[in-house]
Amino acid sequence: MTTNKSGERLIEGDFQIEDKALDKQLRPRHLKEYIGQQQIKENLNIFLTAAKQRGEPIEHVLLYGPPGLGKTTLAHIIANEVGCNIKVTSGPAIERAGDLAAILTNLEAGDILFIDEIHRLNKVIEEVLYPAMEDFALDLVIGKGPSARTVRLDLPHFTLIGATTRYHLLSGPLRNRFGVTYRLNFYEPDEMLQIINRSARLLGLSIEKKAAEVISSRARATPRVANRLLKRVRDFVQVKKSPIATADLAQAALDQLKVDPLGLDDLDRQILRVIIEKFKGGPVGVSSVAAALQEEAATIEEIYEPFLMQLGFLQRTPRGRTVTQAAYEHLGLKFPSEKQPKMV
Ligand SMILES: Nc1ncnc2c1ncn2[C@@H]1O[C@H](COP(=O)(O)OP(=O)(O)OP(=O)(O)O)[C@@H](O)[C@H]1O
Ligand SMILES: [Mg+2]
Repeated sequence: MTTNKSGERLIEGDFQIEDKALDKQLRPRHLKEYIGQQQIKENLNIFLTAAKQRGEPIEHVLLYGPPGLGKTTLAHIIANEVGCNIKVTSGPAIERAGDLAAILTNLEAGDILFIDEIHRLNKVIEEVLYPAMEDFALDLVIGKGPSARTVRLDLPHFTLIGATTRYHLLSGPLRNRFGVTYRLNFYEPDEMLQIINRSARLLGLSIEKKAAEVISSRARATPRVANRLLKRVRDFVQVKKSPIATADLAQAALDQLKVDPLGLDDLDRQILRVIIEKFKGGPVGVSSVAAALQEEAATIEEIYEPFLMQLGFLQRTPRGRTVTQAAYEHLGLKFPSEKQPKMV
């Protein structure tokens, strides 16, 4: 997981410690409880049913998309729907080829191995994974030097589910070994409302429609952020001894968190401002923006940019990042006339 110097960010899609308990309570367990991502659900339904009818384990699945959109949730749902065991690990947790070999040889036929942050697997380990995924075999090198030889060990027919926020960092050969790849998208406003209402129900919180809308508009189209904001609102409502979460209470609770009505926080605004003020609105390379903010380029790229792009505030061009007119307006700045599209 990426860390940043600003510490824990409430609106970040990235996983934080307090999410653990929240996840347990709120995470949907079955496909029919999973809100939105309609196309993925339809596709997955057919894919799972067909495998079930054939009595075969499912093909390897790759899930990708920005943090907090429901990749881990979906991996567990797949295991639940198929009715098989799921073992969970992550790219950075597998340090040596031997670690992976130990995990693989302990699997049983039909098990799912979930590797989170799969883009962080190192190359040596990836090479162990290729024959494991393709041929269900492990190539072990025994001995050293001229007498070294390779022994092939059969593995049970397992399913790998990989999740990543950074699809482009995955090597071609690894991507190609997945039978299906699903890209998770940001959620639509009505889906966000359904998620917030579902979570409120599970948390035992009565919530007005308008209050749910206040949370939704600031939740960055991301379920994890919505759940986190909802929890803050619940605390506020409880302390104020209100029987129901009203729009005013939600507003007051979220105003304290310095999240603006579109869900942007200080760092989002700083990114836009730096590009505008130091780089004339772009185009500028992400590493220059990162250096100006003393942040890691990967953090900016992985956590901040996807939502700024989703809002149409930032564009990635071959020459670098550009801030759009909408972003200037949101920040209350004047869009320079030389940047206006020229009339022909
Ligand atoms: N489609 C959905 N319907 C309802 N709730 C959802 C949905 N997707 C995610 N959630 C909620 O959001 C939380 C975060 O989702 P999840 O942990 O699966 O995200 P993720 O994509 O794995 O994030 P990361 O990249 O940080 O690992 C879950 O605990 C769940 O409660
Ligand atoms: Mg996850």
